[in-house]
Amino acid sequence: MTGSSASVGPGAATADLAPGRPVISAQGVSKRFRRKDQVVTAIKDVDLDVSSGEFVCIVGPSGCGKSTLLNMSAGLMEPSKGKLLFAGEPVTGPNTSVGYITQKDNLMPWHTVEGNIGLALHIRKTDKAKARARVAEMIEMVGLQGFEKSYPGELSGGMRKRVTLARTLAYDPPVLLADEPFGALDAQLKLVMQAEMQRIWAETGKTILFVTHDISEAVALGDRVIVMSSRPGQVKVDRRIDFPRPRDVFKIRHQPGFADLAEELWDILAADMHSGEDM
Ligand SMILES: Nc1ncnc2c1ncn2[C@@H]1O[C@H](COP(=O)(O)OP(=O)(O)OP(=O)(O)O)[C@@H](O)[C@H]1O
Ligand SMILES: [Mg+2]
Repeated sequence: MTGSSASVGPGAATADLAPGRPVISAQGVSKRFRRKDQVVTAIKDVDLDVSSGEFVCIVGPSGCGKSTLLNMSAGLMEPSKGKLLFAGEPVTGPNTSVGYITQKDNLMPWHTVEGNIGLALHIRKTDKAKARARVAEMIEMVGLQGFEKSYPGELSGGMRKRVTLARTLAYDPPVLLADEPFGALDAQLKLVMQAEMQRIWAETGKTILFVTHDISEAVALGDRVIVMSSRPGQVKVDRRIDFPRPRDVFKIRHQPGFADLAEELWDILAADMHSGEDM
């Protein structure tokens, strides 16, 4: 797991990621957190399969356990009940096969943009010249030329997000977990990054599990959109999105059927947004 931080994990090197095989598989997963004398059930009885090569988007009300699900997939926490499998093996520790763009960026404040993006390559002892070229390529991809020597504290929120994305993609993980990666970006840049994400996915065959608050982003990018209920989060709808690929993220919103589909999913989501929360 890198992107937010470097880590190692069991099963990663031998993981079977053949196309179409289940990569992330939640089977009856519940997660409870203890907070003082209260117990919060974040998610309850979640069943979800993400196959190798799929682009799956998750939307759901705030607090329904989306980040919790990604955290478990990354091996940062374990289910309280049920099984969370990665390539058929239970995830019992930090999962090195996934790159994780966490919701809150945690760049190293003492490293420059270049230093942060090259971190995972450095840890993996990548040849220095190759690492430099890769970092430059990533900087260009996320449009941060000219900021190579800047420190995270000197960047806007959107720029920091772009550094996080570049850092995660730099070492080419086969599976990407992204928690609202474009949430802080302005509308135009968001579309550019969506197009880039789709291109990377199509070219590399990565598996992507992508959390967003933006239904149109989910419909534009996903092979499937998962709508979760309010807490305790459960899978309310698992909708296949059949728009042909490659999709023009700049124009797809005007394509016949797009608005209806987004509205249908929005209605399902909205029905849960103001309902009472069950601890
Ligand atoms: N480490 C933790 N300790 C205690 N409670 C936690 C922890 N992580 C999450 N929770 C609780 O679990 C629930 C789900 O949190 P989570 O962050 O997964 O929601 P989310 O769907 O990602 O929300 P948002 O859309 O706001 O990011 C919340 O009630 C949260 O307070
Ligand atoms: Mg979250």
